[in-house]
Amino acid sequence: MKEKLEQILKNAKDELANANSLQDLDDIRLKYLSRKGELNSIKKNLKDLSDEDKRIVGSLANNVYNELDELINSKNDEFYKIELNKKLENEKIDITLPSDFRPQGKVHPLTQTVNEIVEIFQGLGFSVMPSEYSPEVETEYINFDMLNFPPNHPAKDMQDTFYTKTAPNVILRSQTSGAQIRQMLNHKPPVRVISPGRVYRCESVSARKNNLFHQIEGLLVDKDITFADLKGILNEFVRIYFGSARPTRFRASYFPFTEPSAEVDVQCIMCQGRGCRTCSGTGWLEVLGAGMVHANVLRNVGIDPEVYSGFAFGMGVERLTMLKYAINDIRLFFNNDTRFLKQF
Ligand code: PHE
Repeated sequence: MKEKLEQILKNAKDELANANSLQDLDDIRLKYLSRKGELNSIKKNLKDLSDEDKRIVGSLANNVYNELDELINSKNDEFYKIELNKKLENEKIDITLPSDFRPQGKVHPLTQTVNEIVEIFQGLGFSVMPSEYSPEVETEYINFDMLNFPPNHPAKDMQDTFYTKTAPNVILRSQTSGAQIRQMLNHKPPVRVISPGRVYRCESVSARKNNLFHQIEGLLVDKDITFADLKGILNEFVRIYFGSARPTRFRASYFPFTEPSAEVDVQCIMCQGRGCRTCSGTGWLEVLGAGMVHANVLRNVGIDPEVYSGFAFGMGVERLTMLKYAINDIRLFFNNDTRFLKQF
């Protein structure tokens, strides 16, 4: 029996030497060490031996068991590590490879400003006009005549207009103020609305001027509205939009559709008012025109100026964006250079 045990040990060791997978080890364990394995079948025969031999063979069988168990365990650890490494190797990811990541687009800075301004005015009780009140291709009648521009008056030259060949008197709108007319033709006061949009002017392009730009028109008509209400709303707007106090000034101005009229300048952020290329040396940038709605305009849309009064304003979205972020050239908004756009 002793020889048999030694033979078992030797056979098992040979098989272990040839084993090369975790599965092989399991097979060997099953064959020699399990309940139905070869070692156990020897132990079953112990009962036929003398007490003395039982002790010797029994302990020898235990030794063989322990030795094999240890050998299998250590091989098991070894194979486990090898197989794990193989697996890791196979699943290795090269993080230096270029990915198929596509950069995400962003909201254009001008759209961001429009959204922001719309939100501010909504907070001040204004709502946004239906977009059909402010088409970009407009009639001279709405863009000028209804707004109290005298026919063939040089005032029309104030805003160098693009005429279309579609029909006589059809133009690219030079201002969003036409939306005031459509609003008031469709709704009786009280009226408290804004209308953002694109406008076109045939003028020479510079750091401050482009022939396409964006405006936000505002209109408030009710009883007992005064210039103080206009100033209050505009000051509040500037305070919220710029966050902190920015030097601003009201200047008397002229528009055919408002009386009295004013313009609001904000100190140039590029030069802190000293004068630079962006503000063409003045230290200020004009950001909006405004005034009390002219009595003739109210009459044109069938509102009695003896009963109602109101104010209107039109602000330049590009200028307001430039002043907030210190952008020194309006053309940057239209070049679609992603190095510029991705900063917002
Ligand atoms: N529409 C004028 C402009 O484009 C601005 C303005 C709007 C002025 C409303 C007064 C009232 O210059």
